[in-house]
Amino acid sequence: MTTTRAFPSIQNHLPIVGDMNLKTPLAYKATRFMAGAFNVTQMALAEAYINGLEIPDDILRSLFNASMPVLFKHCPSLLAPYEWVLQESDRLAESSRELMKIQYDLPQAMLNQMLGDWKVIYPKYSTGFWENGAVDLEESQMHMLDQVIERLEIVDGDNILDFGCGWGCVANYIMSKFPNVRFTGLNLSHQQCEYMRHKMQDPESYLSSGRFTLHEGDLNEAQFDEKFDKILSIGVFCHVGNLTNAFQKLSSFLKHDGKTFIHIFTARIPNNMSSGFTHKYIFPHGRYWNYDAIPNHNRDLKTINRWYMNGKNYHKTFAAWLQRFDDSQEMVKSLDYGMDYAKFRRIWRFYLMYLGTAIGSCDGEYNGNGQYLMVHA
Ligand SMILES: C[S@@+](CC[C@H](N)C(=O)[O-])C[C@H]1O[C@@H](n2cnc3c(N)ncnc32)[C@H](O)[C@@H]1O
Repeated sequence: MTTTRAFPSIQNHLPIVGDMNLKTPLAYKATRFMAGAFNVTQMALAEAYINGLEIPDDILRSLFNASMPVLFKHCPSLLAPYEWVLQESDRLAESSRELMKIQYDLPQAMLNQMLGDWKVIYPKYSTGFWENGAVDLEESQMHMLDQVIERLEIVDGDNILDFGCGWGCVANYIMSKFPNVRFTGLNLSHQQCEYMRHKMQDPESYLSSGRFTLHEGDLNEAQFDEKFDKILSIGVFCHVGNLTNAFQKLSSFLKHDGKTFIHIFTARIPNNMSSGFTHKYIFPHGRYWNYDAIPNHNRDLKTINRWYMNGKNYHKTFAAWLQRFDDSQEMVKSLDYGMDYAKFRRIWRFYLMYLGTAIGSCDGEYNGNGQYLMVHA
């Protein structure tokens, strides 16, 4: 018997290794138990760090670097700490209000400082693209958006919906390139909407051109009177728990010959993943869809092209954010985070190092960004 033939049967029976979808019912249950135990251990480490345990950055990174390749390659099911990570949720997006409170409505002076705030590139909370030789974070974000323009085939005159529009960076940049493109942005974060409302009054901003419409509201309740030529959603679907509902909604907003572009944090493993730490402290009910999840949901929208963006790009982006976060301590330490600043700082340093290292491990080939071009099914 060859090793390739033997491996699937090991996957069937051993709780730790292999693809959870192939397991016998007993092995599946045992796998869920092991994933829970692994999560408890990870949380103990994270919370020890948050509560003041001194671990030098290099050691923490080495720990992540050593464990991640083993997990991605051999034990991906341990990366799904809760059963809900594996199934579609009832609502399109769960825990939206809590997510705004602990993440997106945090003091904007801190987030803007960390993400960067320039003339055309506003704070952008998604990966930059570094492979074309970008020299800094701002340029990497421009290169990333140039790629979106090309892949979504944006042309002048398009009417575009940005589903989860952040600070309006994508709209501002694309409108700076196309004088007749119109944008509608949807976002639940009141603080981010305040930033955009301010820019809509600023004559130097393309958001003030009369071509940008802002909707402050929840993805779950989104409704529009018009249909769009193009829809894009960048870094938002980690908050979407139900792809079926999401694509049904998006297809109802899209013109019959329209195109949709979804950019997600993804892993090339058989199951979706999450982490107890990010669920509790950073992105409640945040999940990272496996690379095939989107093309596997082709009921209302179907994927006609997809691209995998190597995780080294996000790794470099996280490193830039961490550097900017560290550099701004004097300025941001007096802001109100709803908790002791020292604890807040530790939570965020752990987050930036943990995700930043995970996404760069295995040469960025397992964990990166997925991009999908979709049309009506
Ligand atoms: C990671 S950020 C990405 C923002 C932007 N697309 C970018 O690339 O900079 C995710 C965005 O989705 C928004 N968002 C998350 N859940 C939402 C919900 N339920 N309804 C509306 N917006 C939501 C957040 O407020 C945030 O602006």
